[in-house]
Amino acid sequence: MSKTAIYTGSFDPITTGHVDIVQRVHGLFDSFTIVVAYSSFKSYLFSIEERAELIRECFKGNSRIQVDCCKGLLAQYIRDNNVNLIIRGARSVSDFENELSMSNANKDTSPDCETLLAFTRSKYQHYSSRIVKEIALNGGDVSQYVPGHVQQALKQKYNSTKG
Ligand code: COA
Repeated sequence: MSKTAIYTGSFDPITTGHVDIVQRVHGLFDSFTIVVAYSSFKSYLFSIEERAELIRECFKGNSRIQVDCCKGLLAQYIRDNNVNLIIRGARSVSDFENELSMSNANKDTSPDCETLLAFTRSKYQHYSSRIVKEIALNGGDVSQYVPGHVQQALKQKYNSTKG
């Protein structure tokens, strides 16, 4: 059976910590797609299409990495696309409980799909999209947290919201 993996997340926006995970793991699978999804409990700075476009720009030289959007339930996406592996990044023990719940919920409806955790490298352990947005909103330097084009996109977003 071919190993069709998706790496899911909000990616609002993608950070160098996410990029590092993709670079480390994508080669382990026959097919690897980064899937941008919605969490009902978050409000987003970038639209789902904008988030996907920022990710595409990161990996535009690598045809083995695909980017897609999931606008509804991940379980439905898994079924529609014959996915058998979900990759999630784990930064610390505090991520674990949430990952376990999501993994079990997805397994309720897609019993053949497994969730695998990829551990975030220690230098990126404290990264989060929220921290990046907070620094950028206040005019700080986010160059170590996000690729250059994401930095530009954050600048544009916050300049346009300041009106
Ligand atoms: N580097 C940097 N940051 C990282 C990281 C890494 N390697 N790994 C995780 N993070 C951060 C993210 O930046 C994010 O930060 P934020 O909370 O400040 O935005 C945080 O960890 C967790 O984000 P993420 O991994 O994107 O999870 P999420 O909770 O935002 O997204 C979905 C979860 C969208 C995948 C999930 O809600 C989903 O599947 N939605 C679809 C609808 C559905 O099926 N819901 C039921 C799911 S059981």
